[in-house]
Amino acid sequence: MGNEGVLDPVGEGTVDNGRRRFLTATTAAVGAVGAGVAAVPFIKSWFPSQRAQLAGAPVTADISALAEGERLMLEWRGQPIWIVKRSQAILQALPTLNDQLRDPESANVEQQPDYIRAANPELRSLKPEISVLVGLCTHLGCSPEMVARIGPAPFDPEWKGGYFCPCHKSKFDMAGRVYQGVPAPTNLVVPPHHFADDNTIVVGVDPQGAA
Ligand code: FES
Repeated sequence: MGNEGVLDPVGEGTVDNGRRRFLTATTAAVGAVGAGVAAVPFIKSWFPSQRAQLAGAPVTADISALAEGERLMLEWRGQPIWIVKRSQAILQALPTLNDQLRDPESANVEQQPDYIRAANPELRSLKPEISVLVGLCTHLGCSPEMVARIGPAPFDPEWKGGYFCPCHKSKFDMAGRVYQGVPAPTNLVVPPHHFADDNTIVVGVDPQGAA
């Protein structure tokens, strides 16, 4: 599957054309599977359906055009996936936030693959500048807003960039680490992924040899 993402240079208000294409493709696949099952019903028990295969298929993203502060938005397994290129200022700010966070060292193993924590538990990424996250708040599943700039924000006068969930005011830093004192209990999820080359990320497949 190719890159279905859309660039979001300001972090808000993007029309998700990727989702539209995904749904169209899924609908077509379901129709094809339905016709096949009607003709030869017993085949259903022999093979996994095309719909199941499509739903779990990896998604490949070309990040060659991704600039600092931009977010590429994809869909994988029905979830929004964010790929964000972080600036050096953001990377330097992340460790300074640790004492304000609930799980600064990514100790909760449910929220990221082991190889992400091993690479860097504070940055939570394979490459320092490229962050890959599931864009769903860990409280009740709203989609947080990206507010990547460093500077006072209406919800935090000391804001160092990150994600703000307006539903119940949870805050996460630019590594998806949750702040203390907010409803969200855990860091944002980092999905399994690897770099096929410098500019190609495959979401849904671990790096070769990863545990
Ligand atoms: S869903 Fe995000 S704070 Fe409640």
